Amino acid sequence: MRAWWIRLGRPIAGAEVDVWHASPVGLYENQDPEQAEYNLRGKFATDADGRFWFRTVKMVGYPIPTHTVVGRLLKAQDRHPYRPAHLHALIFKPGFKVLISQVYDPHDPNIDSDVQFGVTKALIGDFVRHDEPHPAAEPDVQAPWYALDYVYVMESGEAVLPRPPIK
Ligand SMILES: [Fe+2]
Repeated sequence: MRAWWIRLGRPIAGAEVDVWHASPVGLYENQDPEQAEYNLRGKFATDADGRFWFRTVKMVGYPIPTHTVVGRLLKAQDRHPYRPAHLHALIFKPGFKVLISQVYDPHDPNIDSDVQFGVTKALIGDFVRHDEPHPAAEPDVQAPWYALDYVYVMESGEAVLPRPPIK
């Protein structure tokens, strides 16, 4: 007889979740004078079930700056400068190691060639396209729209936040 052990996660309530992402034209708000301060950045807290949610616009990938030695290096390696579309998160809760991560869109044309080598299988998000109208809770959302469900897993430990400025 074979046995499988399934380890169920314990929800983490009250975690602070910072999220940020690039715009539909591939720019962060601090790079784009057309965007308001803190646009596409948010801070949330997980509920009693360890969940949080938000509504936003769909991000796209972007090129990293290539005006320095980085550009020459990429050219010498015959590589493009693009990062696939992704959602950043920084999750903080005392008693857990700070989780800083990115979730990637598997449909991005550069998902297999991220210039920063940041994509791993565990970081691929399930971005599900919906071509029907959104449920009544969000009546102004036009099709197509996307949903992303992703589970962040935190590890017990000391919660040490990075000190800005982060370079
Ligand atoms: Fe990014």
